[in-house]
Amino acid sequence: MTNPENKTGNRIVLTADGSTSVYNAAVDQHYHSIFGALQESQRVFIELGLYPALERFGEVRVFEMGFGTGLNALLTLSEAEKAGKPVRYTAVEAYPLPEEEAGRLNFGELLGSPYLKPLHAAPWNRRVEPAPGFSLLKQGGFLQDFQTGERFNLVYYDAFAPEAQPELWTEEIFQKVAGWMNPGGILTTYCSKGYVQRNLKAAGFSVEKHPGPARKREVLRAVREG
Ligand SMILES: C[S@@+](CC[C@H](N)C(=O)[O-])C[C@H]1O[C@@H](n2cnc3c(N)ncnc32)[C@H](O)[C@@H]1O
Repeated sequence: MTNPENKTGNRIVLTADGSTSVYNAAVDQHYHSIFGALQESQRVFIELGLYPALERFGEVRVFEMGFGTGLNALLTLSEAEKAGKPVRYTAVEAYPLPEEEAGRLNFGELLGSPYLKPLHAAPWNRRVEPAPGFSLLKQGGFLQDFQTGERFNLVYYDAFAPEAQPELWTEEIFQKVAGWMNPGGILTTYCSKGYVQRNLKAAGFSVEKHPGPARKREVLRAVREG
């Protein structure tokens, strides 16, 4: 499933587990692993992040770096419904996907969920409740400019890779993110590079390495020290 790049420089692609993703030519990056978008999100953000957060915290307050395709939000909503627990979800996104591109993603069908379209249709910069017990704020703009009075207990750190966006993997940016988190809060990311681990530690996280999804040896879970 490919299509010519459109004016955003995006192309919808099919990854190895049958789920779609997006390739962005401007940064020469895929939004997910080409070895399986769904498997990657499930492993990195849901198994290593959301599951322990649902056990530890009464209300899970998620911050996502990069709303993108909405895959992480959709998986989170499905799991929260199953667990019968409320989730307060906040995502920042500098380059929202056009509606036409979001409409060609297949996560809704794969997961048997009706909520992908409502997640994308939700307004920007205003908190809404697209599903009972799941509140969503999609904040347009750059992570570097994001400000909040909220305190999150789970962060999905899903920026493009450091090769493409080194400014989003620095000690300084992780300090900013740590400032929005409660002690004991969890941050997960697919990137396990040595300097990313060092920058997380320098910003006040304890860092754990965990086996990754297909073809990825290690991914990271970091816990904000208190
Ligand atoms: C690796 S993709 C992941 C997106 C999303 N989590 C998903 O599963 O589809 C990174 C996302 O970050 C967004 N992004 C890039 N630079 C950003 C910045 N400085 N601030 C906020 N979002 C940014 C991109 O537009 C893209 O949607």
